Amino acid sequence: MSLPGSIEVLEGRTRLQVPHNHSSGGPGKRIGRVFYNSQMAFNRDISVMFLRARPVRSALDAMAGTGARAIRWAVETDVSDITANDRDPNAVEYIRANIDLNNVNARCNSTNEDLRCMLARRAFDMIDIDPFGSPVHYIPAAVQAVKRRGLLAITATDTAPLAGTYPKKSMRRYGAVSMRSPFGHESGLRILIGHVMREAAKEDRGARCLLSFYADHYFRIYLQMEEGGAAADRCLKQMGYVENDPATGYFTYGLEYSNRSAGPLWLGPLHDHELLSDMEATNDLSEVRRCEKYLELWRSELDMPFFYENDELSSFLGISPPRMDLLLEKLNEVGKASKTHFSPTAIKTDLPIEDILSIYQEASASNLRHD
Ligand SMILES: C[S@@+](CC[C@H](N)C(=O)[O-])C[C@H]1O[C@@H](n2cnc3c(N)ncnc32)[C@H](O)[C@@H]1O
Repeated sequence: MSLPGSIEVLEGRTRLQVPHNHSSGGPGKRIGRVFYNSQMAFNRDISVMFLRARPVRSALDAMAGTGARAIRWAVETDVSDITANDRDPNAVEYIRANIDLNNVNARCNSTNEDLRCMLARRAFDMIDIDPFGSPVHYIPAAVQAVKRRGLLAITATDTAPLAGTYPKKSMRRYGAVSMRSPFGHESGLRILIGHVMREAAKEDRGARCLLSFYADHYFRIYLQMEEGGAAADRCLKQMGYVENDPATGYFTYGLEYSNRSAGPLWLGPLHDHELLSDMEATNDLSEVRRCEKYLELWRSELDMPFFYENDELSSFLGISPPRMDLLLEKLNEVGKASKTHFSPTAIKTDLPIEDILSIYQEASASNLRHD
């Protein structure tokens, strides 16, 4: 049955009825009766790749909107016990229509509840939280209801507070000071992860960060729970602060707090490389080229917190910026260096700043000789 004011789109291998007027970029707001943002197809692709690599028994799409994500899991992965929930009855009409359209009644059911009520009664192997704005209001319920060693997938679109535009709001929401800096998106992502880790610690649980990234206008994290107080303590030991000197672009991170620090934030790994090598960008995804590009970036991304922008180093040294490939090559002759998914013009490296600056000067001069 076709819903009034809806159109049919194909996302991945899944047919979806969505409101004719829907978002196609930015954080998105509800334009029609129910929310659907076509730009988030990439985010949903990643969750399909994730669940193909790490299947679970039961999965909850807790804020499902049209059901796009849950129904894609039902059609495109092997997960067979899927719940698509939304507290808005209009959304649930779309979810039901989309379950029927794809003939996945046996694998996916719809519910119409506030997710916090549902999670007080039922546990799941995977819980996906995809709100408008900040997920903070739902994290305690999700951390309590995710099964032993289960998975939490969380989107946050409140990038402005997390990345330093509104540090007081970040403090109120996440209990952490955010900071404007060239690597503000990475520190924002790490504040979000750190917040979930601290919520989990209250329940004597830790978590392993399997995948976390920034794209378009949002942060997204996939965590696997680890059980017990010792696991929680191990995670808390990986929390710290970062300080950035805007005059020089130098940053330092660690356990020390000063009144110029951002944090507390997660200083542990952002990705699990075994998972990344098991994830595959197959041709049936909606945004296969973009998925391939991001997989490659994440796989090669060095597990070092924060990064240097090519332009920042060039203006600090007062010399022209070298080509990225040349700079990476020269840094890799001495230490380790990689691109980062946070910015196409930045590098991550394990080298101390003195080495970076002298290699940078060398790369800049050799760039000029070859121009
Ligand atoms: C950003 S939309 C979800 C988009 C959807 N996941 C997708 O991929 O298209 C957020 C949804 O959460 C629902 N929502 C908001 N608060 C909720 C709550 N407390 N419990 C359940 N659903 C909620 C809204 O009705 C809305 O449909």
